[in-house]
Amino acid sequence: MSAKRVRLVETVLRDGHQSILATRMRMKHMLPALQQLDEIGYDALECWGGATFDSCIRFLDENPWERLRTLKANLKNTPLQMLLRGQNLLGYKHYADDVVEAFVRKAKENGMDRIRIFDALNDPRNMRAAIEAGNKAGVHVQGTMVYTISPVHTNESFVKVARELKEMGIDSLCIKDMSGLLAPYDAESLVKDLRKEFGDKFDIDLHSHFTCGLASATYLKAVEAGVDIIDTALSPFGHATSQPATESIVEIFKGTPYDTGLDLAKMRELATYFRGVRKEIADEFGLTPAHEVLPEVRHYQIPGGMLSNTQNQLKEMGMADKFFDVMDEMPRVREDLGFPPLVTPTSQIVGTMAMMNVLFQSQGNPRYMTTPAEVKDLVRGKYGALPAAVKPEIKELIIGDETPITHRPADDVAPEMEKMRADLEAKGFTGVTEEDVLTYAMFPEVALQYFEKHATPVTQKVLNYKGE
Ligand code: CO
Repeated sequence: MSAKRVRLVETVLRDGHQSILATRMRMKHMLPALQQLDEIGYDALECWGGATFDSCIRFLDENPWERLRTLKANLKNTPLQMLLRGQNLLGYKHYADDVVEAFVRKAKENGMDRIRIFDALNDPRNMRAAIEAGNKAGVHVQGTMVYTISPVHTNESFVKVARELKEMGIDSLCIKDMSGLLAPYDAESLVKDLRKEFGDKFDIDLHSHFTCGLASATYLKAVEAGVDIIDTALSPFGHATSQPATESIVEIFKGTPYDTGLDLAKMRELATYFRGVRKEIADEFGLTPAHEVLPEVRHYQIPGGMLSNTQNQLKEMGMADKFFDVMDEMPRVREDLGFPPLVTPTSQIVGTMAMMNVLFQSQGNPRYMTTPAEVKDLVRGKYGALPAAVKPEIKELIIGDETPITHRPADDVAPEMEKMRADLEAKGFTGVTEEDVLTYAMFPEVALQYFEKHATPVTQKVLNYKGE
């Protein structure tokens, strides 16, 4: 095996603060660091997508499109990278193909270079429209498999997903280990199998989280097995539930054939700066930066962020003492429902069902006594094909004798762009841009509030409009 420099994707501007500080980093925090970040020599800077778009308009009063343009204007050397939830774009449901096409095109036009596209169920049909749009727009398309552990998730099953993505025309492949479950020797074995199948046809990127305390060791074995790119976050926004710290990873490979060649002195300066940013954000929003390693996440097979969320929700429901019951119920629900990987939105769907089941049982009622619409839709196939069949008796409880759909879910969604634009115009907005329409299509209520507040330059509101 020929060794080569390992390349790094820096995530401090996206996953780093999404994981450590609830996606609250503002443009003003990023700007002073951009030139230095751009000089490091990263393979890409992940800086947009994921939860950042939602957070911009919901919490930070920022126009996400303007953020993208500002980032592009200040990053002359380093490719910009974003995370996209396939047909769900940056929202929580399937959008129409014309919305997907327009979004990807506009992302490219506003400065995006590389788009990482995933689907919560690893259903390639939910990634197809975005991949095609990316190829058409001329952006680097990174096809993605989300990593999870179950009896049906084998190396062969992941290779099969990768094969389908390759046929759709991807430029590189990402293994996305959002909960940090991937153990070092499993990574080695998976990467070797992928290399065996695909040779050097495309670069493989491993994206992991430090959540279970495994990711640095996992990166080491994966790089030795032939991974080309790994994702890291500068130390103030690294470790815990985020990526391994960039500086530590640089040290790990220093002086070896995999040496990143990146300058640690420059990184120290950046780390000092971002340590200040971390404090500023934590103070402003009253947040405690995530700092724990949670090995139990691997046992319960749930994303790190869900542990604290579940704890808080149970407290509010007066069920704090039921925490471990819910944790134990989670893998049972997951098995009942055909082992979906747990990532937005399936993590929320399975989590809610587990909590409800524990509540029902504590009241002497059966599990699945009632089920939320999202659980029904998951069983109906409306989120895509589940990795395994739903248990027949559970399916019966949830949807009776209904037959789940087997076609691509987005085939049922009619074109939306014109309708969304007409909607906005009917509400009295003028000068609506395609970007505005996309913001509105993904987050209707929040977008309206944002537009109301910013009459210009995003949209120009007719002043005598009385509202709905
Ligand atoms: Co991540």
